[in-house]
Amino acid sequence: MSYTTFNAKQVDATTEPMFLGSGLNVARYDRVKYRFLDKATDQQFAQFWRPEEVDLSRDKLEFWNTLTEDQRYIFLANLKYQSLLDSVQARAPMLAFGHLISIPELETFTVVWPAFEAIHDKSYTHIIRNVFPDPAAVFDSIVVDENIINRAQALTQAYDELIEIGMIYSVYGYGYHVVPSRNERVMIDPSLMRRLIIKALAAVNALEGVRFYVSFLCSFAFTEKLNVMAGNSKIIRFIARDEALHRKAIGDVLKTIATGKEGAEWKADFDAVLPEVTQIYQECFDQEVAWAEHLFANGRTLPGLNVSHIKGFLANVTNQTMLGGGIPALFPTAEPHQVQWVNKYLYSGNVQAAPQRPRLARICLVE
Ligand SMILES: [Fe+2]
Ligand SMILES: [Fe+2]
Repeated sequence: MSYTTFNAKQVDATTEPMFLGSGLNVARYDRVKYRFLDKATDQQFAQFWRPEEVDLSRDKLEFWNTLTEDQRYIFLANLKYQSLLDSVQARAPMLAFGHLISIPELETFTVVWPAFEAIHDKSYTHIIRNVFPDPAAVFDSIVVDENIINRAQALTQAYDELIEIGMIYSVYGYGYHVVPSRNERVMIDPSLMRRLIIKALAAVNALEGVRFYVSFLCSFAFTEKLNVMAGNSKIIRFIARDEALHRKAIGDVLKTIATGKEGAEWKADFDAVLPEVTQIYQECFDQEVAWAEHLFANGRTLPGLNVSHIKGFLANVTNQTMLGGGIPALFPTAEPHQVQWVNKYLYSGNVQAAPQRPRLARICLVE
């Protein structure tokens, strides 16, 4: 057996790689290899919130009395898509990365981060239950909506590949092993593991940094341009703040690898998979543009937004996400986006530990 929950040998985690090292023992934070990860965890704790703290009673009236049928479609479709994204993120990080991590500050961040994705999932139930007496029909329709489910594979492919090979590695260690999905023996060596980890990190970074933003823009447009659904907007701003933190932390992990701080072998594997990594962001961008086109098809409109504006915004946010991960930008000549009004709803993603604020003050999002 390769994996152990507690490595009884004396290990100095500050000299261990982030992944595939000697194995973790004491979760300690007096000395850490990468303080940015410990700070990200502290920041995430400081951002604790619960959807039930936000009153949605006005939203319910506005949903049925003010929104058009088309606007209700856009509103619900986005919530359903976000529900898929956060279902993945609440489940997969520890499963994919947890048993491969070898420094405590990364393990703890990876424990705490999905807990907040679970809060996001709880939010969707809170929002949808507020509008529909029985939200089951809305949730049941997610896995039969081809516009949503046809991006699930792209979302989960890098995770699933790492989970399968990573589990075989954790049980049997390096060597030739049968990989069921490939129906063949595969040489599992350090380079293959490093490459799978880097690709999964990139897919996660694209998810956190790009995939939510069509939905975020629409949610904020309801409030900014129609002066409705302010409770929903408040919840989405909490979620956007968390996603910005996740993008920053995972981007910093990628950049640490890209710049060679994890050693020459990690950097060489990063450079080797860079075309595949770039393709992950391209595919993500293309799918999100297609999602915007779907939302605004059949004459559906939302004041303050159109597909062209969203595409420009996505190009900007894709560039920012990639550069944050030490990856050359896909759209180096992209113009500034045309949705400047949304900036006040979003956070920069700077990870700075903030003191815990009083319970009621947490509802106020603009700091
Ligand atoms: Fe989330
Ligand atoms: Fe997230």
